[in-house]
Amino acid sequence: MYHLKNKTIILGVSGGIACYKSVELVRLLQKAGASVYVVMTQNATRFVGPLTFEAISGHPVCLELFAPTPDTTFHHIQWAEMADAVLVAPTTANVLAKVAHGIADDALTTFLLAVQSPILLSPSMNTRMWENKAVQENVSILENRNISILQPASGELACGTTGAGRQPDAAIIVEYLHRLLSPQDYYGKKILVTAGPTIEYIDPVRFISNPSSGKMGYAIARAFYSRGANVTLITGPTHIEFPFDIRTISVQTANEMADAVFEHESQMDIIIKAAAVADYHVTQKAAHKIKKDTDELHIALKKNQDILKELGRRKKHQILVGFAAETQELKNNALQKLSAKNLDMIVANIVGQKDSGFQADTNHVMFFFKDGKEESIPLMSKESIAHLLLDRIQSNFLRAV
Ligand code: CTP
Repeated sequence: MYHLKNKTIILGVSGGIACYKSVELVRLLQKAGASVYVVMTQNATRFVGPLTFEAISGHPVCLELFAPTPDTTFHHIQWAEMADAVLVAPTTANVLAKVAHGIADDALTTFLLAVQSPILLSPSMNTRMWENKAVQENVSILENRNISILQPASGELACGTTGAGRQPDAAIIVEYLHRLLSPQDYYGKKILVTAGPTIEYIDPVRFISNPSSGKMGYAIARAFYSRGANVTLITGPTHIEFPFDIRTISVQTANEMADAVFEHESQMDIIIKAAAVADYHVTQKAAHKIKKDTDELHIALKKNQDILKELGRRKKHQILVGFAAETQELKNNALQKLSAKNLDMIVANIVGQKDSGFQADTNHVMFFFKDGKEESIPLMSKESIAHLLLDRIQSNFLRAV
């Protein structure tokens, strides 16, 4: 959550059953590096006590407009000035209506009138209330005023009915907020990212693969998403949850990855091939589980198509970025791949170390560009590398155009 780091987020909590979920929101925002201050309505305190938010956020909760404080601070005004973004979760139909019509009759709604930073409202209520014309008209008024509204999720509601109205999971709300705070420098760009390993079956229960976790590719896909792009992710098998709101296509073999890539390639502006594609597949996959009745077993392998090389051959206006996973001769090998595959840029990656490459949360990479420039990147999180990569693509290939 790169763009939430060191940000001040004011969380408004109004009185709905989803209030308890907002405790988790505070924790996730803090984990992302943000400071969180909470403003509650009186009704919200009937669901969760202010002490819970106070203890978790580490700051006093703002509850009343005219609360006696040791100084003369008006929290609702001071906090509006220091907010980098404001999130109201849950937003009740009542608060939605008040904000739409400029009513300020408690600490939260008065505070919201004073805010100038981006506002994200997460409405949650009974389905029939959500579908009510008055509520929907208020949503339109707010959207026209550039206030972001997160559509409620569908599912079983606390009142026993099923339909739209649930507060989305905290992780999804944080993802939205992160997008709201990120520069939208890839807005409208179509991006294809491949991630993870591919696997090549020997028989129905065994396969050849590599330890790629997919973390780097997923981080790149999410970085593009947060910066406004329209992202398609093609992923081999990983243990990572599919990223929220990103079109994700799941494949297993190199062949399947090639088919998926070539199906989408022509519509893309930028292609990033972070996947660790298997170089060979088993010539004859056994139809049934191979029994261990011989001392030696030889498996014939045949080379897979080099997807990236083919993309380089077909390339016209696209920006093509490859990865090079190396255990030695990083620069030579990377430069050779940059030129042989007709790439614009290659991310050379030391693999096989504890803090870099497959599985790790951090990575140690070098960027090489087709014009001969190179950049050594210090060890950092895969998320930070992803955003740095996007910065470099902007400065080298997009801003120049
Ligand atoms: N790649 C690909 N199709 C393959 C093999 C690799 O698209 N069949 C892509 C990878 O996604 C990566 C780049 O090519 O972006 C380099 O992959 P890497 O495994 O480092 O190198 P290879 O080209 O496979 O060469 P070698 O294994 O000999 O180092």
